[in-house]
Amino acid sequence: MKKACVIGWPIGHSRSPLIHNYWLKKYGIDAVYEKKAIEPENVAQFIANLASSEFVGCNVTIPHKEPAFRAVAKADEIARRLGAVNTVYLKDGVVCGTNTDGEGFIASLCHSYPAFSLRNKAAIIIGAGGAAKAIIGALFDEGVDKIGIINRTRERIHDLQVQFGPGIYEISKTNTNDALKSCGLLVNTTSQGMEGQSSLDMEIQSLNPDALVADIVYTPLETAFLAKARQQGNPVLGGLGMLLHQAVRGFELWFGVKPEVTAELYELIAADVQKAHKQ
Ligand code: ATR
Repeated sequence: MKKACVIGWPIGHSRSPLIHNYWLKKYGIDAVYEKKAIEPENVAQFIANLASSEFVGCNVTIPHKEPAFRAVAKADEIARRLGAVNTVYLKDGVVCGTNTDGEGFIASLCHSYPAFSLRNKAAIIIGAGGAAKAIIGALFDEGVDKIGIINRTRERIHDLQVQFGPGIYEISKTNTNDALKSCGLLVNTTSQGMEGQSSLDMEIQSLNPDALVADIVYTPLETAFLAKARQQGNPVLGGLGMLLHQAVRGFELWFGVKPEVTAELYELIAADVQKAHKQ
């Protein structure tokens, strides 16, 4: 029986087993997907030895995405661009790594808003960490024109400019309103608004009314930031769709079937998020 897993430290919170085991059952595949808590000092060895282990591959979550990138024998172009791997698989016995976070975001957006076009739009990203980078790369690949960055630490915006070039610009307090007026997409990639964290306090009254507002946070399913955007009439996108869609490629690589993100799967995971919230 094939086996895959998600590795992290700690790993208790991961909803990946729920997602993958739902698909395994749905497609009648005799395999199992587990959680595996791997201590930071053991990540490199776990990944390097994957071909001789019981696993056909794994997902990688916090804080192992960068060590996983360094540990795989072959990282694809997207993983190299991000310096981070979230999906590990075997190809002809070689341990390969990719990163599906950016494509997960785009697929979630296209799934919820099929008529929304990113081509030649201006986007604003809040945050400049790993998740921001994954989404920025994917947005440029989709034809987004310019991306403005709002981030607490200015040096990290500069790093993004060095990596992605002149399409990236800094949004400061003085040019925020102008940037909001002309943007087509606004995305929070920070953990602000997540349960247990401070909320994202940002004035968005001057936002273009057609701009889509997205959050990668999915605990709660709708953050206060998204609720505010929705109340002022903007289309919104929560973070749970990205989590579901980033899982698709790993499943296909390990088990040979491209799984579908259905409303039933969304409801299953959303119910689990809400159950945890009530505890
Ligand atoms: P990830 O890989 O999940 O994106 P990360 O690389 O630690 O995580 O990046 C987190 C991002 O959220 C950063 O942009 C961080 O801002 P800094 O670059 O200033 O550290 C941002 N962030 C996290 N908590 C924040 C807070 N309370 N206020 C403002 N920004 C925050």
